[in-house]
Amino acid sequence: MARQSPIIAPSILSANFARLGEEVDAVVAAGAQWIHFDVMDNHYVPNLTIGPLVCEALRKHGVSAPIDVHLMVKPVDRIVPDFARAGASVISFHPEASEHVDRTIQLIRDSGCKAGLVFNPATPLSYLDHVLDKLDLVLIMSVNPGFGGQSFIPHALDKLRAARKLIDAAMERTGRPILLEVDGGVKADNIESIARAGADTFVAGSAIFGGGDYRAKIAAMRAALARTTGSE
Ligand code: DX5
Ligand code: ZN
Repeated sequence: MARQSPIIAPSILSANFARLGEEVDAVVAAGAQWIHFDVMDNHYVPNLTIGPLVCEALRKHGVSAPIDVHLMVKPVDRIVPDFARAGASVISFHPEASEHVDRTIQLIRDSGCKAGLVFNPATPLSYLDHVLDKLDLVLIMSVNPGFGGQSFIPHALDKLRAARKLIDAAMERTGRPILLEVDGGVKADNIESIARAGADTFVAGSAIFGGGDYRAKIAAMRAALARTTGSE
């Protein structure tokens, strides 16, 4: 099955929240495909961010790009239908934050969204054993969740390679696409090796919103990615 062409998903965690709609418009105009939306609850992770009201506000503002909701909350299930109603496209969660991982995946799908499972640096990929065929996305964390601007953890490359093998086998078996996303410390100067390890969907927060020209930042990432696919 053909590999997904690369998706760049700027994380609005590093955007200027005082003018969030314009920030999202700007990165989409600069070439971003998705908007990555980090939800933190000061319980599952030690930080507090944004919820469904902000997602809905972006939709009302006119954002039509897919919104990739990364839930770092515990419990998970109660907030899933709220995000679906608020316009989320993909909803991903951490298996340690749900008592019933399979049920949460089903809940996300029943809500009309694509479902993703997120792996912290110390979380084993064995959580995929019985659910991979129900997932639309696997997200490998390359930092510990909670904050933007951290350094990429090199061991994530091994995990991406292992996840890539599992996903390729599953896609071969079922014919269903599954995306492999990476989140944390992704920059123009490491995105090539990350792509070579198997990722097709790239979250980048501080590397894009950290100042400067968004178009140039995204173009530099695309140029590095083109060296791995030869197609862009
Ligand atoms: C971390 C978040 C990331 C974060 C990435 O918990 O899930 O999405 O915003 O930020 P950078 O790209 O700055 O590491
Ligand atoms: Zn994230």
